Amino acid sequence: MKRIFSGVQPTGNLHLGNYLGALKNWVGLQDEFDCLYGIVDLHALTLPQEPDALRAHTREVAAAFLAAGIDTKRCAIFNQSAVPGHSQLAWLLACMTPLGWLNRMTQFKDKAGKHKENAGLGLYAYPVLMAADVLLYKATHVPVGEDQKQHLELVRDIAGAFNRRYGVEYFPLPEPQIFGEATRVMSLRDGTAKMSKSDNSDNSRINLTDDRDTIARKIRKAKTDPAPLPDDPKDLEGRPEAANLIGIYAALADLPRDAVLARFAGAQFSAFKEALTALAVDVLGPIGEEMARLLKDPGAVDAILRDGAEHANALAEKHLAEIDDLIGLLHA
Ligand code: TYM
Repeated sequence: MKRIFSGVQPTGNLHLGNYLGALKNWVGLQDEFDCLYGIVDLHALTLPQEPDALRAHTREVAAAFLAAGIDTKRCAIFNQSAVPGHSQLAWLLACMTPLGWLNRMTQFKDKAGKHKENAGLGLYAYPVLMAADVLLYKATHVPVGEDQKQHLELVRDIAGAFNRRYGVEYFPLPEPQIFGEATRVMSLRDGTAKMSKSDNSDNSRINLTDDRDTIARKIRKAKTDPAPLPDDPKDLEGRPEAANLIGIYAALADLPRDAVLARFAGAQFSAFKEALTALAVDVLGPIGEEMARLLKDPGAVDAILRDGAEHANALAEKHLAEIDDLIGLLHA
């Protein structure tokens, strides 16, 4: 059985990086895999969240999943906190995760900033909860953007540690699926920084809910360099902003980078940016509109989340009973 788990944090507007690095790829996997897609609200709590905003963002991410083309007849969409097994398994796995493994995680270092001793335990244990998300369903594959690669290596290490300790091949070692032309979409203002929800400048990212004019303005303002576009992808080296925009175009158009360069070689950025704007509006416009339509009926979104959680809970409870039994936790 090939099964997928992947998740998105409900911490704000989803952006083009989330779409191209994750959601777009998820849609293509639903025929081949049993898919569970989580809105990982417990992960969001690793940094302070305003309660009403957290609720609203949870529904927004659900709407984004649906608008991107996730089909609830084939996939379960649910929020993580609606399946208590995530927290339960996270504890069990925390008890077999050496601190040394967590100390290697670069995301903790980035997010904790200078004052590490003020950072929460949850932020530190974040990758263990991620391991629980994936292993709770015995997922075999995890489609993500490149920024999650290190976390998924840890998930594999934790799965291996469990299997060795109990002398069984209980958890499959999940494979990260990092594919497409935009596995790491960069900021529109700085081609060396990741496009991110937490960037202070909204001009650094294209949000899935941005309208046509906003998308056009952000792309027009996007940082570039003075040279025209090359015809060979190798000549994008050392030109991070150009490489980023070409990668975005390629991913949105479902074309390899060299095909995009063949089309735009020698062109100035102004012409290329116009074409990129038209393409981005074409692809993202319908998604934003569908999200807005879905969010007018929050009750319907909640019903989808409830159904998804019911499906996920059934599988989670079955696996947790097996895991508890292996560990020796008595269910009298
Ligand atoms: P999150 O919420 O930061 O991002 C959701 C997904 O979007 C991808 N992504 C990007 N891809 C390309 N370019 C970018 N600039 C970019 N920014 C974000 C992320 O790689 C991710 O696939 N820890 C995860 C959520 C999570 C999870 C899991 C994922 C929790 N449990 C279990 C997989 C499996 C996160 O914070 O993603």
